[in-house]
Amino acid sequence: MKTPQFVQIYHEDAQAIGEELIRGLTTPDAQGGAWISPKFLYDALGSRLFEAITELPEYYPTRTEAQIFSTHGAAMATLLPQQATLIDLGAGNCAKAASLFERLAPVRYVAVDISVDFLRGALTHLQREYPCLDMVGVGMDFSASLDLPPEAGALEDGPRILFYPGSSIGNFTPEQALVFLKQVRAACGPVAGSGLLIGVDLLKDTAELEAAYDDALGVTAAFNRNLLLHINRLVGSDLRVADWAHRAIFNADQSRIEMHLVARRSLTVRWPGGSQDFAQGAHIHTENSYKWTLAGFSQLLREAGFAEASAWTDAPADTPAGTAGRFAVLWAPTQEPSPCA
Ligand code: AVJ
Repeated sequence: MKTPQFVQIYHEDAQAIGEELIRGLTTPDAQGGAWISPKFLYDALGSRLFEAITELPEYYPTRTEAQIFSTHGAAMATLLPQQATLIDLGAGNCAKAASLFERLAPVRYVAVDISVDFLRGALTHLQREYPCLDMVGVGMDFSASLDLPPEAGALEDGPRILFYPGSSIGNFTPEQALVFLKQVRAACGPVAGSGLLIGVDLLKDTAELEAAYDDALGVTAAFNRNLLLHINRLVGSDLRVADWAHRAIFNADQSRIEMHLVARRSLTVRWPGGSQDFAQGAHIHTENSYKWTLAGFSQLLREAGFAEASAWTDAPADTPAGTAGRFAVLWAPTQEPSPCA
């Protein structure tokens, strides 16, 4: 039996993180409010709250994506390479990628997440089920750079499947998404048959979008407000959960859901070395979740240098052509498949 390898490249810099957060609290963003990156939503409790979100009736993306994989997995497998290196961006518990193993028979599984510690348990467990699969856990911030370490098998000459499910791409602005997808294109390497398998949330009715980010149970509100407790731990500030309300609105001009924390009264936030006043109603903008059309995202993939993508959605097969589903899974190969294969 093989054993998984682990490499940690990203090293958290507490000082830089503190400075980034204080800059976010004290410098207004383009909309005039404070801005904190959504990556800070995922402390230990935040990660568990996000898992709870994926089970909410209003939060359709996770279950819709799973349904697309179960309905169209066989069709996908005819287009994707067998015996590939499967590189999983934001692997977490590795469950989504593992559900592809039977169909794709990869020879190597590279799980990438910010901290290799998240990956240890999952990979060790998976190795028992797949004793012949090479497995590597890589702790790196792939949103900053996608230069995979040599341990990830970059010198292997087989095809690569880059896997980026869950519509995590929605956290990037279109400009950032293009830069990121160009890096993904480069990380696919030169071997024919390689490509990107990605999940993307689609533009839809505003009421349905806003409900998905402001659920009746208040789990998304807890997820957003928990950010305050995380910031307090990171910078020693005195933000109070009770002072801030959750707000999720669809910004149609930018085609994105925005999450904000809104001050319920005028208040002053203090931390060692500084403070910031917030008027009643002032915002801290905590997340953007962009919603794409299938045509718009396919165009973005072409701009990033991919060949024509195949797409699967949850729209029933018998609906009129062009009817959008709620969510899409796309396979973007790096090269047009050879007609002689
Ligand atoms: C993990 C970024 C895909 O945007 O839907 C869920 C995060 N935020 N509810 C999303 C999230 C609020 C989620 N992504």
